[in-house]
Amino acid sequence: MKEDLLKIIQSRRSVRRYSQSQILDNDLQEILKTGFSAPSAGNRQPWRIVIVRDRGKMEQIASAAYGQTFLAGASVVLVVVAVPYESAERYGERGAELYALQDTAALTQNILLAALALEYATCWIGAFNEDEVAKILNVPEGMRPVSIIPIGRLEGALPKARPRKPIAEVVIEEAF
Ligand SMILES: Cc1cc2nc3c(=O)[nH]c(=O)nc-3n(C[C@H](O)[C@H](O)[C@H](O)COP(=O)(O)O)c2cc1C
Repeated sequence: MKEDLLKIIQSRRSVRRYSQSQILDNDLQEILKTGFSAPSAGNRQPWRIVIVRDRGKMEQIASAAYGQTFLAGASVVLVVVAVPYESAERYGERGAELYALQDTAALTQNILLAALALEYATCWIGAFNEDEVAKILNVPEGMRPVSIIPIGRLEGALPKARPRKPIAEVVIEEAF
């Protein structure tokens, strides 16, 4: 179990091409449930997820994501929305500016891994015009779309692992 989890985490790749097959509703529910098991500061859970299945809407989002058209080829697109005021209620500015973003990042990563465990491919998309995406999805004032996650079955070969910096470069013993 332990090794399985490590293998799953290490085998994750950003995938930008998906097959035509549809996501099963049970799988989507499982992915969402796993996503929402992410930690959040003070358990505030300052998040929402918009499920986008409509192809036209996906295309609008792709264009708000500076022409990342591959996302419209996914079976479903999830848009993670942060709710900074729910963190701010307890933690003030630090809640709004840091915790709400960290919490939604943890949620996003959980979704990527849950999808992978169920053999779906994903890509974390952060390059998009926030105002445009908010408008397309009618996101209420005060909430922020923070990540977009296309989910689909892998089409073709798994992309090669992108290199990582050597551990020695990024791990500091005791102090800088
Ligand atoms: C905050 C964030 C934003 C990202 N935005 C994009 C994006 O807009 N488009 C894209 O294709 N990939 C995006 N990625 C994926 C990265 O390019 C990818 O994780 C990185 O190159 C390492 O590759 P890997 O995920 O296959 O290990 C983003 C990843 C993160 C964490």
